[in-house]
Amino acid sequence: MSEVQTKTTVRVRLNVNGAVHELDVEPRWLLSDVLRHQLGLTGTHVGCEQGVCGACTVLVDGKPERSCLMFAVQAEGHEVTTIEGLTPEDGLSPLQEAFQAHHALQCGFCTPGMVVTAAALLRDNPNPTEEEVREALSGNVCRCTGYQFIVDAVLAAAKEGRS
Ligand code: FES
Ligand code: FES
Repeated sequence: MSEVQTKTTVRVRLNVNGAVHELDVEPRWLLSDVLRHQLGLTGTHVGCEQGVCGACTVLVDGKPERSCLMFAVQAEGHEVTTIEGLTPEDGLSPLQEAFQAHHALQCGFCTPGMVVTAAALLRDNPNPTEEEVREALSGNVCRCTGYQFIVDAVLAAAKEGRS
C-alpha cells in the first residue's frame, strides 16, 4: 500500500517590506491572503479577488501587481512591498499626505492600492501628465471619489517632487 501524502503545506521564504519570513503555506493560498492573515499586513485590501478592482495591489520587484492573482509560493525569490512598506513608521509619506490634503479618499477601501500604484508611477515618471496619472490608475477602481481628487493628489505630490 502506498504511503498517503498528508502534508498540505510547503515552506516558503517571502521577502516582504525588506524582511524575510519563513512560512508554511498551502500551495493554493493567494499572496493577498498570506499577507493579510499570516503576516498581519491588512493594509492590502481584497475586493473582487478576480484581478479587477486593484485594491490588493502590491509591488513585486517594484512593479505593481495584483496580489489576489498570485499564489504566495510564486512570490518566493521576489521582493514584495505592501502599503505598510511605503508608509513611514511615524506618520504618512508625502504621497499619502497629498491624498489626505486633496480629500482623495472617502471610505478608503481602494486607497492602499491607489497609493501603491501611484508611488510606482512617480518613481518611474516623477512629472507625469494628468493623462499619464489616469492611465496608471486605470486598473484601480474607486466607488466613492469620482477619481478627480485622487488624480489631483498624485499630480500635487509630483509637483512638489515628493512621493
Ligand atoms: S482584490 Fe485583487 S484585483 Fe480586486
Ligand atoms: S475611497 Fe471608497 S472605494 Fe475609493
